Amino acid sequence: MAIFLDTGKIEEIKKYYEMGIIRGVTTNPTILVKEGVTGGMDGVKKRSIEIAKLIDPFPLSVEVTSNDPQKMLDQGIEFSKWASNINVKVTIHGINGELDNLQVINKLETKYDVRVNVTAMMSAQQCFLAAMAGATYVSIFGGRVNNMGYDSRIEIRKLRDLLDNFELDSKIIVGSTREVINVVEWLHAGAHIVTCTPKFLEGMIVHPYSKETVQMFLKDGAKFE
Ligand code: E4P
Repeated sequence: MAIFLDTGKIEEIKKYYEMGIIRGVTTNPTILVKEGVTGGMDGVKKRSIEIAKLIDPFPLSVEVTSNDPQKMLDQGIEFSKWASNINVKVTIHGINGELDNLQVINKLETKYDVRVNVTAMMSAQQCFLAAMAGATYVSIFGGRVNNMGYDSRIEIRKLRDLLDNFELDSKIIVGSTREVINVVEWLHAGAHIVTCTPKFLEGMIVHPYSKETVQMFLKDGAKFE
């Protein structure tokens, strides 16, 4: 079980990596745009290599930017060469439900030896088929599942049981964190990994009653100085 950081911000990654509490990083084009990555694909490459070096040998997910099958394949192969710990994110299908993606995912994994993280999934059945196609990671967006009125924990449990029963090696990543409680509740539900935004890690660590307790210890400790 592990926590990944869902960000492209170097300072945040460095901070939590040096605490020893993260085991990988995930990004997507929306995250990189929000965080001000510029310079086109060269900018993405530069940032990705920087993160990959910083967390090596822990994995970094970098997402393809096209839904054209050949371009997804080409980008997947190219991104995976930027660093040995980079895996490639590919969505489960296209914007209109085009079905080319699983074939690309299967090819990347089996023919080109590229580790794939299948993303933008909202159900156990999508993740199950992505796992059957050979994906190393299957990413379900827990927060978006909850927002649609379904209990993400039930989907995660169902998915973990399916992967275990079918002896599939894919690892479940749950992303789309919305509340601090998501990290532990999703791991508890059966996720191998939860990827969360940095602010939630701070929220997990800091507790008002711990602050008060520390203050008491320091106040009394000062009496010995
Ligand atoms: C996961 O890998 C995704 O990058 C991410 O968690 C998506 O989250 P969102 O629903 O906040 O966009």
